[in-house]
Amino acid sequence: MVILNTCHIREKAAEKVYSELGRLAVMKAAHAAEGRPMLIAVAGCVAQAEGEEMLRRAKVVDVVVGPQSYHRLPELVARAARGGGAVLDTEFPAESKFDHLPEARGGQEVSAFLSVQEGCDRFCSFCVVPYTRGAEYSRPLAALLDEARQLIEAGAREITLLGQNVNAYHGCAGGLGGLIRWLAELDGLDRIRYTTSHPRDMDEDLIRAHGEVAALMPSLHLPVQSGSDRVLAAMNRRHTADHYRGVVARLRETRPDLALSGDFIVGFPGETDDDFAATLALVGEIGYAQAYSFKYSPRPGTPAATLPDQVPEAVKAARLEALQSLLRAQQAAFNRRFVGRVLPVLFERAGRHPGQLVGRSPYMQSVHATAPGAAIGEIVDLRIIEAGTNSLAAAPADGLARPTVSSSVA
Ligand code: 5AD
Ligand code: SF4
Repeated sequence: MVILNTCHIREKAAEKVYSELGRLAVMKAAHAAEGRPMLIAVAGCVAQAEGEEMLRRAKVVDVVVGPQSYHRLPELVARAARGGGAVLDTEFPAESKFDHLPEARGGQEVSAFLSVQEGCDRFCSFCVVPYTRGAEYSRPLAALLDEARQLIEAGAREITLLGQNVNAYHGCAGGLGGLIRWLAELDGLDRIRYTTSHPRDMDEDLIRAHGEVAALMPSLHLPVQSGSDRVLAAMNRRHTADHYRGVVARLRETRPDLALSGDFIVGFPGETDDDFAATLALVGEIGYAQAYSFKYSPRPGTPAATLPDQVPEAVKAARLEALQSLLRAQQAAFNRRFVGRVLPVLFERAGRHPGQLVGRSPYMQSVHATAPGAAIGEIVDLRIIEAGTNSLAAAPADGLARPTVSSSVA
């Protein structure tokens, strides 16, 4: 059985699914010729968005399952295996899949994900998420604390709280800031992160948590999308560039070393050279540690897809290149600042070379090191000896060759 887990956020991702299905059709036919049946399932947001259309377009598919129905996968697979045609489940069932999914057991990765909310009520005009993932839903605190304990028990030392609009979390008093404070009390959990946030949902308590909760790591993914107020309004972002500047300033007051990451869209319908210049100017002011940027991609059913003044592909490509070269330079400069400094690194996996381990700094940088005596799952103070655009190289800090458990920033 092959399951394609799919993303619908941009057109390129959705197209890839169909080309991959073409490849799998050949494999399925070859298996069938040898008398070995093969099942193909498509899961995720492309499955959710296309539904029956996918069954019509790709006869090779046996199961189409949306993100809200994963707990029904065993039943869907059994039905498809019995024959009688393809099976489709893209409902938003009344029961929550989270109550039915299996618990984390041993062999958990050092860095784990915990879904705390799903869906989104913000309706940015370019975005399919409110349609594919539905209305905002926050999981209750007790279920999250239980699952976090299981993850820690199974070996996790870092948990990243996930949600399409994670800081809209409202499953406990104090929202996401409150949840983070609860999780910080759990024994054995050294690092907490969360992603992705909307600037309008960065409330004061969450901002204060960045200065008060030691386990909350000093890195934050806070997409702004554009630096032009005109474009932000057309995107229905409900914030201005100045509002974003204000949120970042407040965050940096509470946590001066905060490493910022972001998302940007270039070539949104109607974006002029001046609008784009405003984006470059904002990036120049903020200074990102890392960021993602995309050409605007019209998504079916979203308001922006039918706006006039769609930007020509060549203009989008040129703007993307200009923005990415600025962001790359910022990332390289951010990383260079750490050369010679000592950082606590959480080792996550073995590196490519013998004896090498790869981990993450508090700022989300990937760090490679040969650290005798250290093991995966340990936090070790390391001296940064080299910085590239995408990663750092480190060596045991003088007199600190033994692993420490400190997560403080040197
Ligand atoms: N076109 C291009 N980028 C998009 N994103 C979301 N929708 C689109 C789209 N239609 C980007 C946004 C978002 C990230 C996850 O994907 O920047 O923050
Ligand atoms: Fe999409 Fe994020 Fe806007 Fe929600 S807040 S509509 S997930 S871009």
